[in-house]
Amino acid sequence: MQKNSLNKKAESWSGRFSEPVAELVKKYTASVGFDQRLAQFDIAGSLAHAQMLGAQGIITQQDVAAIESGLNEILSEIQSGKFEWLLDLEDVHLNIEKRLTDKIGDAGKRLHTGRSRNDQVATDVRLWLRATSDDMLAGINKLQISILDLAEQHADTIMPGFTHLQVAQPVTFGHHLMAYFEMLKRDAERFVDCRKRINKLPLGAAALAGTSYAIDRGLVAKSLGFDGVCENSLDAVSDRDFAIEFTAASAILMTHLSRFSEELILWSSPRFAFIDIADRFCTGSSIMPQKKNPDVPELVRGKTGRVYGHLMGLLTLMKGQPLAYNKDNQEDKEPLFDTADTLLITLEIYADMLCGISVNKANMRQAALEGFATATDLADYLVKKGLPFRDAHEVVALAVKHAVKKGCDLADLPVQELQQFSKLITDDVYQVLTLEGSVASRNHIGGTAPAQVKQAIVRARNFLN
Ligand code: ARG
Repeated sequence: MQKNSLNKKAESWSGRFSEPVAELVKKYTASVGFDQRLAQFDIAGSLAHAQMLGAQGIITQQDVAAIESGLNEILSEIQSGKFEWLLDLEDVHLNIEKRLTDKIGDAGKRLHTGRSRNDQVATDVRLWLRATSDDMLAGINKLQISILDLAEQHADTIMPGFTHLQVAQPVTFGHHLMAYFEMLKRDAERFVDCRKRINKLPLGAAALAGTSYAIDRGLVAKSLGFDGVCENSLDAVSDRDFAIEFTAASAILMTHLSRFSEELILWSSPRFAFIDIADRFCTGSSIMPQKKNPDVPELVRGKTGRVYGHLMGLLTLMKGQPLAYNKDNQEDKEPLFDTADTLLITLEIYADMLCGISVNKANMRQAALEGFATATDLADYLVKKGLPFRDAHEVVALAVKHAVKKGCDLADLPVQELQQFSKLITDDVYQVLTLEGSVASRNHIGGTAPAQVKQAIVRARNFLN
């Protein structure tokens, strides 16, 4: 009876059960629809596990050889799309194991010795996430190069810098772009750092407590390229903090791209008309023929919300779980996969889109002239001539008020008029009142002077190499 049920039923755990799982429950609990994406990593993990079992004399070398050739065949079946995934077999792990057993018989049944799906799935996710972190870093790198290329062309293109979305001080467009380079540099650091914690081996934890077989976890770690093993079995199978961290790093990266997008949208609007985004990244309106909509940056901004949602989802998934493994953790995969898919395509399209941006320098310059952007420079000029900063601030405020009344810029006021506000003002004032003089004077590391922007780009290129 017992033997019979073992042979007949599809589920690997079904001997204990007296009725089959309800169809709806099967559908509800199965993960094979999405976790088949882990197949390649599941097989890599199984190969390393089997080789270790063989090396430790837990299974025979003959079994190891059969497992290896069986798993390699299965991998090609999966890669060529010939593999038949069965919902009845619940998840990627049981699908592959069943196929292996169909192919090689008892040796296939020995593969799961000293292992559980709990440490198996944790290993698969970590392997997948490690590879994905590397893809993410490559994507960031490519976008950074696009930023540097654009910044280099515009190291001395003047635009207004804003605070409170009001013209504040002139900056160079290259400098503005390099701000995003810095953000992405920190984003990359976050992925590099998070990868260290991803890259630890859970296998050997088995279901939760470890295993009574004389396994060699170090060997498995080494053959899978892990930096070490998870040092507590309960922690190894239950925590997904590394996945949360990855998603948090992704959410922050999306925040940066969302801010950048918001700027591209503003700058490309006819009100600003600072830039033009190439037509291939825009769409038209079905009713208003004059429209050219910046769909790509708008979608980046929109997709940021979805990635934040995944972060919240994963945090919430984890927060109420007692140790050790709970089926809740099966819910980690879809948010993770979608986070990675969203980020990778966003990084790629962003890098392309930046190459398709053209700049209207005249409009940028005109806008910088319109908001008394060099008022601070006049104050600094007076300070350098001996006036205390607070007094200089007041002198300039009065001069600005006067210019507003006249409807002109500070640089348009004749020196005699400027002298009504301070006798310290002389002809040399126009050097600082011009946009070029203003940006060139901010000539220190981190400043907007074209010379500094060029140096920052050189440092950035060296860093990337
Ligand atoms: N599909 C499961 C998951 O993704 C694999 C682990 C199943 N373990 C279990 N005890 N039911 O988490």
